[in-house]
Amino acid sequence: MKQYGYFDDDVREFVITDPATPWPWINYLGCEDFFSLVSNTAGGYCFCKDAKFRRILRYRYNGVPMDSGGRYYYIKDGDSVWNPGWKPCKTPLDRYECRHGMGYTRIIGEKGGLRCEVLFFVPQGGRCEVHRVRLTNTGAAVKRVQLWSFVEWCLWNASTDMENFQRNLSTGEVEVGDRILYHKTEYRERRDHYAFFGANRPFDGFDTDRESFLGPYNGFDTPQQVFAGTSGNSVAHGWSPVASHRFDLTLEAGKSEELIFVLGYVENPPEAKFSAPGIINKAPAEELLEAFGTPAKADAAFAALKGYWDGLLGRFQLESAVPELDRTVNIWNQYQCMVTFFMSRSASYFESGIGRGMGFRDSNQDLAGIVHLIPDRARQRILDIAATQFPDGGCYHQYQPLTKRGNHDIGGGFGDDPLWLIFGTVAYIKETGDFSILEEKVPFDNQPGTEKTLLEHLKISFARVADNLGPHGLPLIGRADWNDCLNLNCFSDNPDESFQTTENKTEGSRAESLMIAGLFVAEGKDFAELLSQPAVSADPAYVDEVREAVSRMETAVKQHGWDGEWFLRAYDYYGRKIGSSENAESKIFIESQGWCGMARIGADEGLCDKALDAASKYLECEYGLVLNAPAFSSYIKDYGEISSYPQGYKENGGIFCHNNPWVIIAEAMAGRADDAWRHYCKISPAFAKDQSLRKVEPYVFCQMVAGAEAAHPGEGKNSWLTGTAAWTWKTVSEFILGIKPQYDGLLVEPCIPQHIGSYRVRRRFREAEYDLTIRLTGKGGSFRIPYRPGFQALEIEL
Ligand code: GLC
Ligand code: GLC
Repeated sequence: MKQYGYFDDDVREFVITDPATPWPWINYLGCEDFFSLVSNTAGGYCFCKDAKFRRILRYRYNGVPMDSGGRYYYIKDGDSVWNPGWKPCKTPLDRYECRHGMGYTRIIGEKGGLRCEVLFFVPQGGRCEVHRVRLTNTGAAVKRVQLWSFVEWCLWNASTDMENFQRNLSTGEVEVGDRILYHKTEYRERRDHYAFFGANRPFDGFDTDRESFLGPYNGFDTPQQVFAGTSGNSVAHGWSPVASHRFDLTLEAGKSEELIFVLGYVENPPEAKFSAPGIINKAPAEELLEAFGTPAKADAAFAALKGYWDGLLGRFQLESAVPELDRTVNIWNQYQCMVTFFMSRSASYFESGIGRGMGFRDSNQDLAGIVHLIPDRARQRILDIAATQFPDGGCYHQYQPLTKRGNHDIGGGFGDDPLWLIFGTVAYIKETGDFSILEEKVPFDNQPGTEKTLLEHLKISFARVADNLGPHGLPLIGRADWNDCLNLNCFSDNPDESFQTTENKTEGSRAESLMIAGLFVAEGKDFAELLSQPAVSADPAYVDEVREAVSRMETAVKQHGWDGEWFLRAYDYYGRKIGSSENAESKIFIESQGWCGMARIGADEGLCDKALDAASKYLECEYGLVLNAPAFSSYIKDYGEISSYPQGYKENGGIFCHNNPWVIIAEAMAGRADDAWRHYCKISPAFAKDQSLRKVEPYVFCQMVAGAEAAHPGEGKNSWLTGTAAWTWKTVSEFILGIKPQYDGLLVEPCIPQHIGSYRVRRRFREAEYDLTIRLTGKGGSFRIPYRPGFQALEIEL
């Protein structure tokens, strides 16, 4: 079985040893407002704050060869031209290694007695990428070599950059310093920002016009200047601005040369935009280069970044007998949760950064993965999300991060959305104990003057679902519930229409969702518990109302939502069952088994156990639980987008990893440790054996892995930005390892196979630090730890 890399847990890195991975294996840099995607061959791009509106580097999704465009360093050593990251020249290297770490990537290439090591990172507090390039002559003779840098600028709006060529090819503008190359397109008019690429010493040549550097009709792999050993010293006027420095270097035997490049972004206040007519104010760029432009300063910034991640990840550390579990918990799952929180679903190698904004439901779920790491940012995110709610409790399905305004193109009307605000807020308060967030005043649709407390927002969220029930007393689905592709009120036979926004069965829209029913019961119980906390002092009559609505829903589910062996999925617009043994296809769906199972609906009558058995029996395959089975074999107009996918992919019989944790949690709540563990291992990348088959990064969860009915089962897609990150974190930390944050402390209640024996968790919780050794004796049960600031070491037998 061909392997492309391995985990190096001691330094928290994944090490790629063959650059020709089956698909680009990427990493993310940045954790404030400057972000970068960097692949194992140095491909990718960066942006500040918003992947669509403030794109700094141009990137061609869908390009060939795949993953073209990035920050490329070219080396010319005699006749040989190569890149440390192998691409774009693809000259065979004597040695290649890419180490993706926490917020940094290090690429090392070696050829003909020359080693080039490039460390890429985004420093804390700096709106820039730092590239630390070290060239070492490992041979015995002096070497004269040349080094070129290269990036291609995006004209800011990543969308129009790919469309509006009649304008774009005339707007490009640059300025050239002796160390810094500036990109200032549109700065002359409304923009207050520019980008720059600087080096910490004066260059020997430069280019800022793409074709002058590459040569007409050439690709990145054959830049004419590099092959000629020259630079064009070109100044771009329109066309495609780029930035390339050239350095002519002499390396004594055994000696190294180090250069530091800073790729940065600057915003200037209106009164300080220009230093002379038409000339940009360069002082902030020079300062930024100055701040990181010596080895000592770059070292210090890199050490600070490492310290940041050590501090964060140190908040939850596991020692167990299962290395795959330890590396998932201690390193990669927490890291992926952070990245997903930052990016939402905007920028990955599957999300172009121009399509979707921040999702209302997605962002709320993402909180569950980071509340223990960055609670302050979680708090702000909750308030931002709540401000995109409408006064009637509905909400924009998405909002743009730059403006924080709701996205009108998609609008609202997704039946599940409001409940996720309760989910996110509960997760935040249980972790932090910060009830004061409930008193924050938050507007509706961002309209000043409409403010109500967050608690009121939660109440109207709950009411929005409670008051919008269909003929069976079950929640109306609207345009869709969690499953965006189950569009039961939007009938489309026109390929030019969107499935979700072509809502044409609004009159008496009747389709109902069992997934929302389960979510409503689970979140309703959580909401009642929150309202009953002494710090909230809610009106007891209101709390009773919430409990009664929950109990009515449980009754409705038992009466109209049980199919005999599992929970139904929905009722369609015509009141017909979906996800029933009566259906010809897709007789069973995962979402309702997960959510009704987590809500423990009918648990006493054995419904949850039966539903979980059915999930294993009908949905489980080698790589996880598929979403529905058997998958739809043809398009069913009344169901919407779901059956548009070929069998085994995405929402039609794919393993949608995001929802596997719901079943796993339900298994844990039912005390079925072996089932929970088996399902967990199947979707966890650390346990996956075949890197070629999986195709995408072996260190992060996928949104989707092709299911049993697919042409290529086990093939992963949509890695990185997925609710799977937060949900698997919640699953493993709270339900498998059993460390559950409560309003008044921690509850230790594991559900993990006995053979694991014992494990140790060190966990920061508010102002407390716990060192817990948990021994599995088989007796089971739980152990309560009342919150008390300070350090506590406990040995717990369960
Ligand atoms: C995607 C969306 C998410 C949705 C899921 C299922 O992951 O981001 O909002 O719930 O697909 O359709
Ligand atoms: C789901 C799919 C996603 C799609 C969206 C809207 O979220 O997973 O790929 O973009 O639905 O169709």
